[in-house]
Amino acid sequence: MSIRHRMLFSFTLMTLLTLLSVAILGLVMAVAITGDFDRVRELYTRQYSMKPLLPEEETAFAEAKFVAKKTPEQLLLPDALASIDAPLPEVQAGLLLRKAETIVYATPALRLQLHGDQLPPYEMANINVRDTWSVNGRFFTYVKFDFSFTDQTPGSLYVVRETSPSSEFMAKWFPLLAGLLLLLLLVGNALLYWWVTRGIVIPLRRLKEASEQIREGNLAFEVGVRSADEIGALSASFEEMRRRLHASVELQHQYEANRKELMTNISHDLKTPMTMIKGYVEGIRDGVARTPEQLDAYLAVISAKTVVMDRLIDDLFLFSKLDLGKVPFAFEQVELRGYMADLVEEMAFDLTERGVALRLHGAEGVPLRVRIDRDKLRRVIVNIVENSAKYMDVEQPDKRVEIALVDKPDEGGVSIEVADNGPGITAEALPNIFERFYRAEQSRGASTGGSGLGLAIAKQIVREHGGRIEASSTVGRGTTLTITLPKEEAE
Ligand SMILES: Nc1ncnc2c1ncn2[C@@H]1O[C@H](COP(=O)(O)OP(=O)(O)OP(=O)(O)O)[C@@H](O)[C@H]1O
Ligand SMILES: [Mg+2]
Repeated sequence: MSIRHRMLFSFTLMTLLTLLSVAILGLVMAVAITGDFDRVRELYTRQYSMKPLLPEEETAFAEAKFVAKKTPEQLLLPDALASIDAPLPEVQAGLLLRKAETIVYATPALRLQLHGDQLPPYEMANINVRDTWSVNGRFFTYVKFDFSFTDQTPGSLYVVRETSPSSEFMAKWFPLLAGLLLLLLLVGNALLYWWVTRGIVIPLRRLKEASEQIREGNLAFEVGVRSADEIGALSASFEEMRRRLHASVELQHQYEANRKELMTNISHDLKTPMTMIKGYVEGIRDGVARTPEQLDAYLAVISAKTVVMDRLIDDLFLFSKLDLGKVPFAFEQVELRGYMADLVEEMAFDLTERGVALRLHGAEGVPLRVRIDRDKLRRVIVNIVENSAKYMDVEQPDKRVEIALVDKPDEGGVSIEVADNGPGITAEALPNIFERFYRAEQSRGASTGGSGLGLAIAKQIVREHGGRIEASSTVGRGTTLTITLPKEEAE
């Protein structure tokens, strides 16, 4: 059974139970009041006659009835009835005496201006002695006794008690009221059913649709169920699950695309030197290189290409090992200024040969201690400085690479800033230079171009050091690469 049907069923059952219990309760009360099962049926129609007389009324009625039976003429004496009805006004009751069509006596406290035919007609058998009666918008219950005076004129003796018109109203409209209440119960039931199902069934249906979408592999949507209840919480966690799944699938796609690109790049970068080596080897075999000088030249090219390939394979290997976190790092505390001074001295000779001035400055006399793997960091710095020299315009007159060491006490780090006055990197290319195999358009395929792995490797190494690497550049003015490492206290 679906939740919707279950709810409809339970709501209907609840209504029926309510009706049944009200009915049973009514019946029990009626039996308790009337004391007789058979008369319950009459309860509604005859309810007025059941209303018991008050003791005052009972006494007055009995006394007056006694006189009426024995010596009716006595009732006509002045003061005869006045003494009998004395206690009645206290209970809103009074006596009435009718002779023929004339009201001979009416308890003054009732203030009734009556004519004889306004009372119920004579009924000498005295069967319906109790009933209700209304006159001039006032309501009374009564008990009566019809008799004959000695001269055979009919007479009536009434003990009347005024009741509230609302009880009369209730009696009159009871069936309609009961019907309305029943209707209210049914409408209320329907509204409640609608309200509860709306809060449960509709969101559940949406969740079902959402899970079907996910099953179909469509994750780019939003589970738009928001409410502050349990269903809302379920929807929220469902939405969270969809979001994460979506993100992980996206990431998977990204990885897949990267892997394909990597394969293409590797194949391309290995294929190019390989083709050249093959060509030159064939040239030698076919006797194209005739003189020993030519043969030397051919072999030199082959050797250079194998060096390129060897380096590429080394880089690739290092990169994937770094990627897998399988490269051991030998960290030690090093004084950065001294370390960099040695490194600059080592590189400067080769760079000066190529017309590039390399200079180190900053942080003189300040101890800058960092925890590094000497060889790995050396590799990073060499690649960055190499890049600066490599991408410098050949024609440029004043080629400079400046390395600055900057103490950054606010962030507890030290920066190595390598700035050149080369051609710079375009804003579009800049965010990508740390991607593996990325080479800006102008350097792709040029003789200067390497594998494009240098900065990707640098980034991984710096990350292993707990630091970060950033690049800034202005086309035509130069590029600055900044490595920031956490500073250490002296051991
Ligand atoms: N100082 C620089 N000036 C201009 N362009 C640069 C500079 N440094 C890096 N680039 C650009 O960023 C790209 C990526 O550099 P990266 O060091 O990763 O690769 P590569 O130098 O081409 O190859 P590899 O370092 O593996 O031999 C370079 O190809 C170049 O286009
Ligand atoms: Mg490089």
